[in-house]
Amino acid sequence: MALYEQLADRMAQHIRDRVLKPGERLPSVRKASRSSRVSPSTVIQAYALLEEGGFIEARPRSGYYVRATHFRHPPEPELSKPSKKTVTVDVSELVFSVLDSTRDRGIVPFGSAFPSPLLFPFDKLARGLASSMRRIDPWSTVTSLPSGHEELRRLIALRYANDGMNIGAREVVVTSGALEALNLCLQAVTRPGDIVAIESPAFYAALQAIERLGLKALEIPTHPQCGVSLPGLEQALQNANVKACWLMTNFQNPLGSLMPDGNKAKLVELLARYNVPLIEDDVYGELYFGERKPLPAKAFDREGLIMHCSSFSKCLAPGYRVGWVAAGRFAEKVERLKLMTTLSASIPPQAAIAEFIQHGGYDRHLRKLRRALAAQKDVMIQAIGREFPKGTRITHPQGGYLLWVELPGSINTLEVHRLALERGISVAPGPIFSAKREYTNCLRLNYGHIWSEQAEEAIAILGKIASSPV
Ligand SMILES: Cc1ncc(COP(=O)(O)O)c(C=O)c1O
Repeated sequence: MALYEQLADRMAQHIRDRVLKPGERLPSVRKASRSSRVSPSTVIQAYALLEEGGFIEARPRSGYYVRATHFRHPPEPELSKPSKKTVTVDVSELVFSVLDSTRDRGIVPFGSAFPSPLLFPFDKLARGLASSMRRIDPWSTVTSLPSGHEELRRLIALRYANDGMNIGAREVVVTSGALEALNLCLQAVTRPGDIVAIESPAFYAALQAIERLGLKALEIPTHPQCGVSLPGLEQALQNANVKACWLMTNFQNPLGSLMPDGNKAKLVELLARYNVPLIEDDVYGELYFGERKPLPAKAFDREGLIMHCSSFSKCLAPGYRVGWVAAGRFAEKVERLKLMTTLSASIPPQAAIAEFIQHGGYDRHLRKLRRALAAQKDVMIQAIGREFPKGTRITHPQGGYLLWVELPGSINTLEVHRLALERGISVAPGPIFSAKREYTNCLRLNYGHIWSEQAEEAIAILGKIASSPV
């Protein structure tokens, strides 16, 4: 056996024995050549062999990592089948009670909607905040009303342009996080009693917004890989007087689905045919694991019907509460609603983010963040595959930091949530993602936190809870 084959064999054994764990980075070629006392070219050949065998994968500009896919991957859930009734929504109390119990810092935060704050450049942002505010033109605090910091809006428009989208800075309204943008958009295009089409399962804040505004939800079947079912949506548009859609085309919360570009184009065409606006929630668009950033549906819009909402909360600056909307033909209405409700977003955090985008290495930070999340995803899927009962299904998201887990048998995840909390672990139970409190056998788990032994143990505990019907 050639030297490189011997080395590859030894490393493959380490991977099988979990001495090298899924998601772990292999030593650099130079380091491995020194420690194994072989030439760098032998290491390169060994790594190529391991890659061919599916044991490891190369990540651009980062090195080689142990692949999770070498191990047993549980199957994915199937297309959801919500009941076709339009319903008034009443989930807020349930959502509050679940979320209240997950904020404690000592708890393993699988139920959280946020990635670890340790993944973000707070020091650099703070320096940018100080320096930009020292240089600020005092008049800009007046001229920025109500749409937001001019330079930040220009930079947002520039990033759209880099993605091939033609959205001027004047269309962009800065908001307090994406959530305000989403809520203002919903207010702009609906009146109490109107029907809003949403995914099933859906982000609970969409359900709460619908509830707060006295609207009705129509849940549409959604696929864990390619997002909302277009035939399902078309049927809804034909049969009900849908006044707006609220959807996530990129890394949907909670499924993690990514709608293919072809479907996005068809979705936009379908909505144009029925003249129904789309509130597009794209807060995870920057957190992709593939080669290039997925486009939003907005990129295919020619009618101004798509209101594209996003923020820096999940990709750069949690807690700064800076989001925005490019609201197409509804931009002026949204701007006025912003003016009437909170006047304008706070200037200092916007200035700090603008400074970071220009001088702080935003794209470098994003690459690092994506790599960390991709590796954490693999490790968590692996752990669930080992510890959860047979028959468990898990999504395989291509971005974001959320997994949707479908448990076998008759299990109530609200009860799993309660039992897990007693053991210091939070989970997000399925019913908070449904207007009809469906998905009682599902959980959303967050892999946006740096993996640790505590997390590994927590998955084992959850696996045990999930194995005993409750
Ligand atoms: C899917 C989704 N949309 C919107 C938001 C709100 O974003 P922001 O924190 O920028 O208001 C969140 C936050 O959890 C989210 O998960």
